[in-house]
Amino acid sequence: MTRRVILGVSGASGAALALDCARVLHAAGIGVELVLSAMAERTLALEIGPDARAELMALAGRVHPVVDLGAAIASGSFPVHGMIVAPCSMRSLAAIAQGLDDNLLTRAASVQLKERRPLVLLAREAPLTLAHLRNMTAATEMGAIVMPPVPAFYLRPETTAEITTQIAARAVDLLRIAPPTAHAWDPTEGNAP
Ligand SMILES: Cc1cc2nc3c(=O)[nH]c(=O)nc-3n(C[C@H](O)[C@H](O)[C@H](O)COP(=O)(O)O)c2cc1C
Repeated sequence: MTRRVILGVSGASGAALALDCARVLHAAGIGVELVLSAMAERTLALEIGPDARAELMALAGRVHPVVDLGAAIASGSFPVHGMIVAPCSMRSLAAIAQGLDDNLLTRAASVQLKERRPLVLLAREAPLTLAHLRNMTAATEMGAIVMPPVPAFYLRPETTAEITTQIAARAVDLLRIAPPTAHAWDPTEGNAP
C-alpha cells in the first residue's frame, strides 16, 4: 500500500507543528493528505506568516477542503496508515472525543478510530479544564494517542524550531511506519531526561 498519512491542522496555537509534521512526513517519502480547519488558516497566518499556508500545501500530496465530508479520507475504505492532528485544538479534541464527525478533520479522525488505525493528537491548551481532561481520557479510551506538544527540555533546545521539529518527529515516529527520526535520549550525552 502507498504510504499515506492524514495531517489535520486545527486552530490551536502551535501552527509551526503542522509545518514540521508535513516536513518530516515529506522527507520520509510519506504522502500527506492535508485538511485544515478555518481557524488553522488564521493561526498559520498569524503565527508564521502569509506564506505558511502555501508552504504547507506544497508539502502535501493532496489538500481537502474541511467542509468536504464526501472526500476520500472521510471513508474507512480509503487506505491510509493513520492520522496526526497538529496542533489539535480543544474544540477539535472535544468533537473527536464525542464522535461528532462535524467536519472533514473530525470525521477523518473518527474514521481512524473506527478502523483501529493510529491517531495522534497534539492537543494544545494550558491550563486544562476538567472538560479538556475528560475529552483527552475519552479519546485515549478509544485508542487515540494524546501527545501534548511539550518540549523535550532534556535535549536542551536553543530555538523554538528545535522544539517543534523534535515534537513533530516524535509524533510521526508514533505512527511506526518509517524508521524513527526523533532525537533519542542518550545517557552518554550527559543531558539528563
Ligand atoms: C491565535 C489563536 C490561538 C489559539 N490557541 C488555541 C489553543 O492553543 N488551544 C485551543 O484549544 N484553542 C485555541 N484557539 C481557539 C480555537 O481556534 C477555537 O476554539 C476554534 O473554534 C477551534 O476550531 P477548530 O478546532 O475547528 O480549528 C486559538 C485561537 C487563536 C485565534
